[in-house]
Amino acid sequence: MSKNHWTAYWKSGVLTSLPADFKVNYDGELADYWLSVLQQYDQEITTLDVCTGNGAVAILVKQLAQQLDLNINMTAVDASDIKPASILNNFPDMQDVINQIDFIGNCLIENMCEKINSKFELIVSQYGIEYCETEPAAQNIVKLLKEKGKFVFISHAPETAMMAYMQTEEQVYQVLEDVKAFEILHQFSNDKTTVNGFKIKLKACLAAMSLHAAYRSNALFNTWGNTLSQLLNMPNAALKQQRIKAKEFSQQYEFARARANDMLRVSDKLLNDPKWYQAFERAGLTLINQGDIRYQNTHNVGHFYEFTKD
Ligand SMILES: C[S@@+](CC[C@H](N)C(=O)[O-])C[C@H]1O[C@@H](n2cnc3c(N)ncnc32)[C@H](O)[C@@H]1O
Repeated sequence: MSKNHWTAYWKSGVLTSLPADFKVNYDGELADYWLSVLQQYDQEITTLDVCTGNGAVAILVKQLAQQLDLNINMTAVDASDIKPASILNNFPDMQDVINQIDFIGNCLIENMCEKINSKFELIVSQYGIEYCETEPAAQNIVKLLKEKGKFVFISHAPETAMMAYMQTEEQVYQVLEDVKAFEILHQFSNDKTTVNGFKIKLKACLAAMSLHAAYRSNALFNTWGNTLSQLLNMPNAALKQQRIKAKEFSQQYEFARARANDMLRVSDKLLNDPKWYQAFERAGLTLINQGDIRYQNTHNVGHFYEFTKD
């Protein structure tokens, strides 16, 4: 499956997959949870973070280990073409910790044994392993764990407000598709329509959008409405210069939609098969602990699972 939508996202310099909720890295009860995992160790360990993205959990775990005076050798792997150095524009003080992590991009967890030869005492993941095909991913996790090693992960909580929000956004994307918003931006950015022809289509598109009153207070719907109106109201000479920007705008939202759909697909997978995590037991691990993580005592930000290899 193509991961271009994640590659583009990580290239933009974000650290976590939820930058609106976590201004720097995962914090609060999520960080407390990872700290509690590390507190079980008192000597150097080798650790692998799977589905690492730009390394949020790998970085957090390294930083928490420093606080505990624990030496951690960290490898971090992801299917997309990750760019952890791109976070340095936003977080320049993370240079040292990033340099200490061995990042491996373009690597599916389902195939990771082809690229990773070493074995680990601890394999971690947050909002990641549930995106993989569970059975083959589980087999590779087991292969890369040392005897007595642990696999600890936090998965999305599928019934959260965030998922409900994404479902509404997907409805908005569907409307934008129906009113041909993406299509006319593509035609314009690929030089397949004149400026006047584009304006006629923009007018029709905005008229069709105005019929969807239910989304009038939706931020995504309004961003598109405002952007299309601005293009429509531009003098022709200025509008001609907007072809590249129009392409970037539409592509940014196509990728955002693909990422949200990944999350919704994962959410469905977890809801439809609440025992999905038992695949790790079938692959040879023993489940020793599981539970919910409540953030700021208000909402559920994930479900944690702890397995050992006996
Ligand atoms: C929601 S993001 C989470 C990233 C990171 N753990 C975080 O919390 O910031 C999910 C990540 O899983 C990666 N991914 C999805 N399927 C994968 C697979 N089969 N193998 C490896 N990585 C995968 C995506 O490329 C993406 O970077």
